[in-house]
Amino acid sequence: MNFNVKLKRVVDDSYDIEIGYGLYSRLAEDLKAGLVGSRKRLAVITDDTVEKLYAAQMLEKLAEAGFKAELFVIPSGEKSKTRQMKEFLEDSMLEKGFRRDCAVIALGGGVVTDLAGFTAGTFGRGVPFVNYATTLLAAADASVGGKTAVDTPLATNLIGMFNQPKKVYIDISTWETLPDEQISSGLAETIKHGCLGDEQLFEYLEKNIEKVFDCDREVCEYISQHNCEVKYKVVMLDERESGLREVLNLGHTVGRAIETVSDYKLLHGQAVAIGLCAQARLGERLGFISKENVERVERLCQRAKLPTKIPGYIDREKLLDKLYTDKKVRDGKLRFVFQKQIGQMVCFGENEYGRQVSREEIAEILSEM
Ligand code: GLY
Repeated sequence: MNFNVKLKRVVDDSYDIEIGYGLYSRLAEDLKAGLVGSRKRLAVITDDTVEKLYAAQMLEKLAEAGFKAELFVIPSGEKSKTRQMKEFLEDSMLEKGFRRDCAVIALGGGVVTDLAGFTAGTFGRGVPFVNYATTLLAAADASVGGKTAVDTPLATNLIGMFNQPKKVYIDISTWETLPDEQISSGLAETIKHGCLGDEQLFEYLEKNIEKVFDCDREVCEYISQHNCEVKYKVVMLDERESGLREVLNLGHTVGRAIETVSDYKLLHGQAVAIGLCAQARLGERLGFISKENVERVERLCQRAKLPTKIPGYIDREKLLDKLYTDKKVRDGKLRFVFQKQIGQMVCFGENEYGRQVSREEIAEILSEM
């Protein structure tokens, strides 16, 4: 006997990204208007840095709007992005009586949005979630696009799911409290977007990058908008990374490996900046980018107070081995994506953006850095 279980589905995961200042009331209004359906119970997941700065304001607005919101706090930093922390959140939510009729609000940076989005995706087999991004890194990259994940001892982001938020709020006023190194980290993803798809953004950064550290409104709004545009245009074409979305990994093959080998002493964006420089240098050898443009990428990273060289404490052999944990590895072979001059990516065939790179090729580049 044979049964055919028909489960064809049409999914509409479209959502809005709102950029502004102090968006707690907007969030409360949207929730009242049905952003997460009729759910009234909200788990606000945040970290212990953001909690002190912004949690009270958010909880107040949610309570005023008639929601029963409770806070779940993790220690800040990449080391919290683990399966164990996900379990801690799940158990805490269950103990407090949260069930399938709740929704999750991620209030924080990339670690919080990645972890909370993944937790929401499996809690009660999936509850809706919203991202309220409080860092430039989350605004530039992590909060948009639906990649959620945890890190493992082997490497970052290997366990996770595609899970799109119901809405993303980018609150630029929260950048005022970011330490410079966090601004720098977000700028690495911003420079990446300029390199891979927006020459105008790259040139704008060359004129204005220092102003981001002063939270200049016009500049912060410009980069927020351009970051979102580069990212969502790619995600709309290839949500599940069957090809094109790999371009968003520019600089991440070396970057993610350094981040792990540094034992997270380097922030994500700091590691990505080194990775951007590595792909640019290798790209120059392969004829994809001129020496002058490689220097422009390195100079812009330096002006963003980002490292462009590999720190002395990084074990080079360990780093080379770690490259092979990258998600783009196919049949045990390393694959890199490369920028084409400034603002475009090298395409190696239909929907093919990765190029095989040998251990020797990348080892030579890394030995110069
Ligand atoms: N951060 C890369 C991506 O969202 O695909």
